[in-house]
Amino acid sequence: MSSAVLEPPIEMEIPTDFTTREEGNHVVYTIGNKTFRLNKEKARARMAGKRVINGERSAELNVLPLKYHEAYRIYKQMKANHWEPDVIDMTKDCTQWNSGALSAKERWIIEMGVGYFSAAEGIVGDSVLHVIEDNLTAAELKHASLRQIAEESIHMDSLLHIIGSLNIDIDEVTARFQDIPSIRNKNEFITRQMPELKRGIDLTQTVNKQKFAKALFGITQVMEGTQFYALFAMILSIHRQNKMTGIGQMFQYTLRDESNHIALGRYILEELINENPDIWTPEFRAELVEFMREGVRLEKEFVLDCLPEDGVGMSQAEFLDYVDFNADRRLVGLGLQPLSQIKANPFLWLDEVIFLKKEKNFFETRVTEYQTGGSVKNASEDDLI
Ligand SMILES: [Fe+2]
Ligand SMILES: [Fe+2]
Repeated sequence: MSSAVLEPPIEMEIPTDFTTREEGNHVVYTIGNKTFRLNKEKARARMAGKRVINGERSAELNVLPLKYHEAYRIYKQMKANHWEPDVIDMTKDCTQWNSGALSAKERWIIEMGVGYFSAAEGIVGDSVLHVIEDNLTAAELKHASLRQIAEESIHMDSLLHIIGSLNIDIDEVTARFQDIPSIRNKNEFITRQMPELKRGIDLTQTVNKQKFAKALFGITQVMEGTQFYALFAMILSIHRQNKMTGIGQMFQYTLRDESNHIALGRYILEELINENPDIWTPEFRAELVEFMREGVRLEKEFVLDCLPEDGVGMSQAEFLDYVDFNADRRLVGLGLQPLSQIKANPFLWLDEVIFLKKEKNFFETRVTEYQTGGSVKNASEDDLI
């Protein structure tokens, strides 16, 4: 592996130029530099059966013809950001961890990061697999969702890399963090509704479609989109002071992955609602806002446990504002009412960390230029065939 592993992975602009043209009985489908010839009638039939839920199921997982272009684009983006925890150098982290270079507050935040995310990544991976992916019926949505599950495994693996490198007692950490009420409450809040959905419910009924939509919203917008971010910010602020840089780098990559998971979740929700407008009642919209409100309340308790007083170069108040800011950007992103008046991101530097452009690829030393300016063509069924 090259030394480029120490560089952040690139935020690539993926070619998103999808075009189709007819040739006799075929549709010629071009994605980037690849061309596919589809039988027109079969493609038309497959397209007609594509739905977010309750569509035709096929074991083939054939994504063509694409209906949900944005999901496929996000899949390509996720793949372009691939990284491997095992090769991140933890030498400096070990030295700092064992030499007293960290304050008690900083050590506590690192331990909270390991303790909380060890369970949280597993909850997300398990829920995306058994609740979300299992109920999706369109191949390109399943495809992107399966990629997300693989990335949650990478995140779990990164925590093992940290635990192994710092020689943390895994049983002791797990036991200690299981007993922290703010962590227990967050996890219980998000998983409460999952057992029923895992057993399989009739998704032709509006009430069950709403349960599915709420689970999707809960995992991707409340948990990943709001409840992960304050602790990410704390750990990356330690990294910013040139401490625990291996851990910081892993959390930087993880956070970039999460931004794709949030975008995918929002997109699937939007398409689900477009196809099933019976879900989107005023009562249900209010239910989602209240669900986020409870998520924010629990997250603020958690932030106060992570940072009982000002430290790590930032104030408690800023982290609490950051929770509100993230909650609102998830709500507004779905056309829902915001909960607070926090309009500005208190940690602008963090967005810059996540969205570094034109950095070196994880696996290659050369700087790679990618096509820019492409846009997703949301072709209608008629445009496509
Ligand atoms: Fe994750
Ligand atoms: Fe995620």
